Amino acid sequence: MELDLAVDAAAERMEERLGLLKRTSEHKAWLQRTLFSASAETAANHLRRWMKATGMEVHYDALTNVYGLAQTSPDGPDAPRIHIGSHYDTVINAGAYDGTLGVLLGIAVVEVIREARLPLRHNLSALAFCDEEGVRFQTTFLGSAYLCGRFDQSWLDKPDEFGKTLGEWLVDRAESIDAVLQNEPYIRPSDCFLEAHIEQGPVLEAADKALGVFTEIAAQTRAEVEVIGRAGHAGTTPGSLRCDPLPVACRMVQAIDALCQSEEAVRATVGRLEVSPNASNVIPGKVRFTIDLRYPDAAGLRARRDRLQTELQRIADGSKVEYRYREAHWADDAILSPAITDALAEACECVQGEALRICSGAGHDSMMVARVCPTSMLAVRCREGLSHHPDEFVSEADCRLALKALVDAVIRLDRGA
Ligand code: GLV
Ligand code: MN
Ligand code: MN
Repeated sequence: MELDLAVDAAAERMEERLGLLKRTSEHKAWLQRTLFSASAETAANHLRRWMKATGMEVHYDALTNVYGLAQTSPDGPDAPRIHIGSHYDTVINAGAYDGTLGVLLGIAVVEVIREARLPLRHNLSALAFCDEEGVRFQTTFLGSAYLCGRFDQSWLDKPDEFGKTLGEWLVDRAESIDAVLQNEPYIRPSDCFLEAHIEQGPVLEAADKALGVFTEIAAQTRAEVEVIGRAGHAGTTPGSLRCDPLPVACRMVQAIDALCQSEEAVRATVGRLEVSPNASNVIPGKVRFTIDLRYPDAAGLRARRDRLQTELQRIADGSKVEYRYREAHWADDAILSPAITDALAEACECVQGEALRICSGAGHDSMMVARVCPTSMLAVRCREGLSHHPDEFVSEADCRLALKALVDAVIRLDRGA
């Protein structure tokens, strides 16, 4: 089949698949597909089916990563791989494109290369990582770390919000912990990785460009905070005799927001806050909340995290509550491969003219994969820069352009390597 016709056919299938995955959710009213949920299992089954249909050898691993290998190289299954993909889990009340678009683009690239019968020296691999958002365990990149051979044994003890650990989840799923820990990395230093992802910001739209490239990704950390007081009767306990953790937690949230407002480059967010027992006539006994903190480089992030911790401790010390701060996640910033970024930028130039180079404030599996093999990212325009929001939207035309650019980049990388 002629290349452009193969791109058209694959882009059309991709649009249908986006629609189906948008409806593959734990909740009818909003999109939510969390690691190990029934909806994630259903999505994984769709992905496996689509990968199989292209003739890929398909794998579904203990952590629920889905990946397919297309033997496009004449040198057999161990020839260097060009991996293309992203994550298929979502946040709560998610948009339909974050991660999912990159996963479907990976499958579509394999379809186009196969249908247009383009000869390659590399094998092609489509990746669907199981947990980038870290909704269940507050630690991101579980799936990509596992495929990169960077799974950390201590993660088995990470609890979800109900106290069930990752290790317990795996045992309940009849997985062998020994086998998980001895897993051979599928992503190797001789490979390379291309991740296409919606920009999740407004820069491309403002520049009237469908596509750009990410050159680096900001450092990020997450923490879980507990502020523990004493529950009591709302009607009988005077202020002086209360140990109410909620006003203390509010002062902490304000300190976190003050840090966020204090400089343009810092991002500080309290996205989850739980008040227990959460009853109108009961003084709260406990408040738990999360902190998501980001800065372009790791040293700068460390400095701001330390400053914030000092401030939160000062607030706690000035009250009667018990206070606990637990760091649940840390990721250094990532500088993406200049060679892969250039190949992607040249591909963008071919399909749309000049490509913008952007630093990503959002986290991506590429941060993990970049530690193992040359990695870079294609950024795709999304409407009003909106993401982690149900109105997230990428036009069909931009999805098609992204597919065209990725196919072009694969051909460049295959020839250049
Ligand atoms: C992932 O989407 C993140 O940046 O939180
Ligand atoms: Mn996301
Ligand atoms: Mn994402």
